[in-house]
Amino acid sequence: MQGIYDMHDTAGRITKDGIRIYEDADFTGMRLAGQVAAEILDAVAALVKPGATTAELDDFIREDIDRRGATSATIGYKGYRHASCISVNHVVCHGIPGGKQLADGDILNIDVTVIVDGWFGDTSRMYVAGTLPRKAERLIDVTHEGLMRGIAAVMPGNTFGDIGHAIQSYVEANRMSVVRDFCGHGLGRVFHAPPNVLHYGRPGSGAVLEEGMFFTIEPMVNLGRPETKVLADDWTAVTRDRSLSAQFEHSVGVTATGCEIFTLSPAGRFHPTWA
Ligand code: MF3
Ligand code: CO
Ligand code: CO
Repeated sequence: MQGIYDMHDTAGRITKDGIRIYEDADFTGMRLAGQVAAEILDAVAALVKPGATTAELDDFIREDIDRRGATSATIGYKGYRHASCISVNHVVCHGIPGGKQLADGDILNIDVTVIVDGWFGDTSRMYVAGTLPRKAERLIDVTHEGLMRGIAAVMPGNTFGDIGHAIQSYVEANRMSVVRDFCGHGLGRVFHAPPNVLHYGRPGSGAVLEEGMFFTIEPMVNLGRPETKVLADDWTAVTRDRSLSAQFEHSVGVTATGCEIFTLSPAGRFHPTWA
């Protein structure tokens, strides 16, 4: 999101950078919410195929959230009306589900945020309709590895700049670009909280990570230039040069020695070519 925070949180300590420190017991809540979100992304995979519409995928997601006794965090959020964002090909993020059919070789990010017992689980991953084109596969592989390298930098004492640098240096070494216009965010009992988690940066810059911080890392990577623009619907962000874009998102919590990923796929299906 773009650095606009929700302000409804109460418990716990706040750092000088405005970042909430959660308790050990709160990891349980985040784990449950993260697992529900990840299970929904596992389940929707079977519906992604040429001819399907993104509105059909969103309908399934809305019903599946219901079946699991969870609540959609996006329906009604700043006027958004859907249970997911579905971003196809050159759409960077915040794609609105609609009636257009997927074509063979289209790649898409599906982003779901659920609320379970008041805790927010926010995750997204890439899918393909039909056969994954070679260039798209490279983009998806680099984006996923970039996310995992960012996550590997999550430990107490490291900084948010270390996370951004790990992502940016890997992506740019592969001659792709990191989107600057959107970032990850703190979350927990709210959807969007400090800090802005940038997917680029300098080692050692930014706030210092502490055990008990919860946030997302959600790099968007373009095959072409990093610039984006938002369409007239006020949501859909696209690459200005219309190059392909990919994104993966995990919700994580900082532990004493590293981090816990709350939104790992129970089916091991986090990547379009897995399982
Ligand atoms: N899930 C998105 C994120 O990762 C936010 C979507 S807000 C919506 O931050 F309103 F567009 F759904
Ligand atoms: Co997010
Ligand atoms: Co998200």
